[in-house]
Amino acid sequence: MKRIAVLTSGGDAPGMNAAIRAVVRTGVAEGVGVVGVRNGFAGLIAGDLVPLGARAVGGILQQGGTILGSARCDEFRTPEGRAGAIEILRRNEVDGLVVIGGNGSQSGALELVKLGFPVVGIASTIDNDLYGSDITIGVDTALNIALEAIDRLKTTASSHARAFLVEVMGRDCGYLAMMAGIAGGAESVVVPEVPVDPEELARDLGASRERGKKHAIIVVAEGASYDAEGLARYFKEHKKRLGFDLRVTILGHVQRGGAPGAYDRLLATRLGFAAVQRLTAGESGILMGLRDGKLAATPLQEVAGSKKPLDPSLFELARVMAK
Ligand code: F6P
Repeated sequence: MKRIAVLTSGGDAPGMNAAIRAVVRTGVAEGVGVVGVRNGFAGLIAGDLVPLGARAVGGILQQGGTILGSARCDEFRTPEGRAGAIEILRRNEVDGLVVIGGNGSQSGALELVKLGFPVVGIASTIDNDLYGSDITIGVDTALNIALEAIDRLKTTASSHARAFLVEVMGRDCGYLAMMAGIAGGAESVVVPEVPVDPEELARDLGASRERGKKHAIIVVAEGASYDAEGLARYFKEHKKRLGFDLRVTILGHVQRGGAPGAYDRLLATRLGFAAVQRLTAGESGILMGLRDGKLAATPLQEVAGSKKPLDPSLFELARVMAK
């Protein structure tokens, strides 16, 4: 292998730059050239490639976002789009590709593998919904951002005896909400994996007020059957029963921005290093992730067809801690 390419795709995640840096510097160490692809699969189809040397990735370890840019690309979902992408890679004498991203991105990576092009994926999404890795790049930083917000909201909630519905990202996965709820000491957590019963939530909040709680934090996953705004609308007429005045805070993209923490920098560096070592050694069609604390490769075929379930024991933990 003489030259490899690297791209970031889907929603950005804090730590993606650390992964790009690791890919480039490992490539240098392995004696292969590295080109960056701008704007994910869209940039690949457009032939938007840039050579990356060790110095080009200096000073990006601590930067949030992705220096390469990212995109969601409908054209890549078509056979013509994918054929065009392969054509660009071959024309630029690229022998292998590293795809840094989440579910959709790794499904895209698999499509290239099916067309005979060597690809290794790196698990990166704040949602932590990717099968094959216990934790993905960006999750830890996003969680810490959510926690900082929850800690701040608690102080003002206490002053006014209020309940806050705090909505976090995660698409249709409740991991971020559940973990932010447990680590943030939430009174309730609402996740997409379990249908929401607003009546039960109202009873829980009323009961916690009677137990002497001065505030209530309800962490709501954006993909739940009632999101934060939906719940707020429902509760508008039920204020008395809640025992608290109610406010809504939607954290949104704030969770994806900003500098990666130590955990994400280290995870991204380890995954970037391993991905290039595997790719240049001739492996392909795998996702590099972390399982049971160790680096692990999972076939992209398994990744694309599988869902990562939320650990059911977490529900009980969150419930008991809320007392
Ligand atoms: O997949 C990451 C994620 O941040 C999800 O949590 C969220 O639903 C989605 O991306 C938002 O996408 P966009 O940045 O395109 O609005």
